[in-house]
Amino acid sequence: MRFATPLSALVSLLCAAAVHAAGPVPLDVFVPRITNPTAGTVWVSNTTQTVTWDASNAPVNISNGALIMLRHNNRTAPFILAKGFDLRSGSCPITVPWVLSDDDYEIVLFGDSGNFSPPFTITSDTANAGQTTA
Ligand SMILES: *[C@@H]1O[C@H](CO)[C@@H](O)[C@H](O)[C@H]1NC(C)=O
Ligand SMILES: *[C@@H]1O[C@H](CO)[C@@H](O)[C@H](O)[C@H]1NC(C)=O
Ligand SMILES: *[C@@H]1O[C@H](CO)[C@@H](O)[C@H](O)[C@H]1NC(C)=O
Repeated sequence: MRFATPLSALVSLLCAAAVHAAGPVPLDVFVPRITNPTAGTVWVSNTTQTVTWDASNAPVNISNGALIMLRHNNRTAPFILAKGFDLRSGSCPITVPWVLSDDDYEIVLFGDSGNFSPPFTITSDTANAGQTTA
């Protein structure tokens, strides 16, 4: 294959070595229920809000990195709101992006598997600033 470069071969080797060194650690699937935002939430663009989820049943070892993204009209947008936080903490602050006002946004929380909040509202109309639901 044209792009089977020595670099990708090296990366494969390193990954294989890392897996070998770590041993057969069980990969726990953790799909926590998102508790904020909820269906009634209204967030204002550019404000800091806190995404929360139920971490009461979090496994000891969560295999993949934590990631929060935004969904609009059932499509996940390709930008990251937060990354690398502790999934077991149950909360993570984010800055609400400056996006068009709409009531069909969802938060996506990635652990081992993606997980959506209910649809909620983001408003970019500064006249509505202050109507945040934490
Ligand atoms: C978590 O991972 C460590 C090694 O990284 C392992 O020793 C331990 O047994 C694992 N615990 C569970 C509950 O899987
Ligand atoms: C998004 O998915 C929900 C549930 O399947 C559906 O009711 C809704 O109409 C969809 N919205 C859009 C914009 O496709
Ligand atoms: C968000 O920030 C941008 C860039 O600073 C600004 O132009 C915009 O008016 C802000 N929107 C709100 C709703 O505060």
